[in-house]
Amino acid sequence: MTGVFVHPQGLCESAEVGAGTRVWAFAHVLAGAVVGRDCNICDGAYVEGGAVLGDNVTVKNQVLVFAGVTCEDDVFLGPNVVFTNDLRPRAAVKRGPEDLLPTLVRRGATLGAGTVVVCGTTIGTYAFAAAGAVVTRDVPAHAFVAGNPARRKGWVCQCGERLDAELRCRCRGCGTGYRLVSEHAGLESAGAVGCTGFVGGVVRGLGSGPA
Ligand SMILES: CC(C)(COP(=O)(O)OP(=O)(O)OC[C@H]1O[C@@H](n2cnc3c(N)ncnc32)[C@H](O)[C@@H]1OP(=O)(O)O)[C@@H](O)C(=O)NCCC(=O)NCCS
Ligand SMILES: [Zn+2]
Repeated sequence: MTGVFVHPQGLCESAEVGAGTRVWAFAHVLAGAVVGRDCNICDGAYVEGGAVLGDNVTVKNQVLVFAGVTCEDDVFLGPNVVFTNDLRPRAAVKRGPEDLLPTLVRRGATLGAGTVVVCGTTIGTYAFAAAGAVVTRDVPAHAFVAGNPARRKGWVCQCGERLDAELRCRCRGCGTGYRLVSEHAGLESAGAVGCTGFVGGVVRGLGSGPA
């Protein structure tokens, strides 16, 4: 692996880690885990064999990513996010990989600190789970969910800000609008005019013209 940084106290046993990825102290990436480019795997995180991370995924401290979990590009996993892969675990019942339920986190989604994800769920593109959410059902694209069980409380822009009632980003200078595809599928962009974001930074990958 070229271009991968592994802290002297970190442990990276996977041969499939992309260039630019950093594995920090006490993080453990197991053999069989697939990790893309430019990921940041922070202290104490655990990425099991059979887990797949795309490019530019942030894995904050103490996150647990088990086999069967896929996170697409630009996913943000806050500290202490916990995935699961066995819906009805019993210590005395040994299950094989075929019995585990997959979980998919689509491009650009954010899971706030301490989010727990029950397996078998799909979290849509650019969805946002508030800190401490317990995700037990699929989350639509661009949905803002919170609580236990996580319920949709609104919609969020690709830049992370909340959308107003007309599904327009309320941050200064964003101007991104969305349209509802369905309650299940969530939102799709209705045309981005470029987003400088409410903190003044350029948001990676946001379109620079009408869709
Ligand atoms: C979701 C978040 C961004 C707040 O967003 P916001 O748009 O400012 O939300 P508001 O304060 O307007 O709250 C909107 C609603 O969601 C609720 N809510 C917000 N955060 C919540 C949480 N973590 N859990 C449960 N409900 C929450 C509010 O109570 C409010 O509910 P109401 O409409 O019934 O009154 C923030 O609470 C959060 O969780 N951020 C994640 C931080 C994090 O984990 N960072 C990780 C890197 S360190
Ligand atoms: Zn925006």
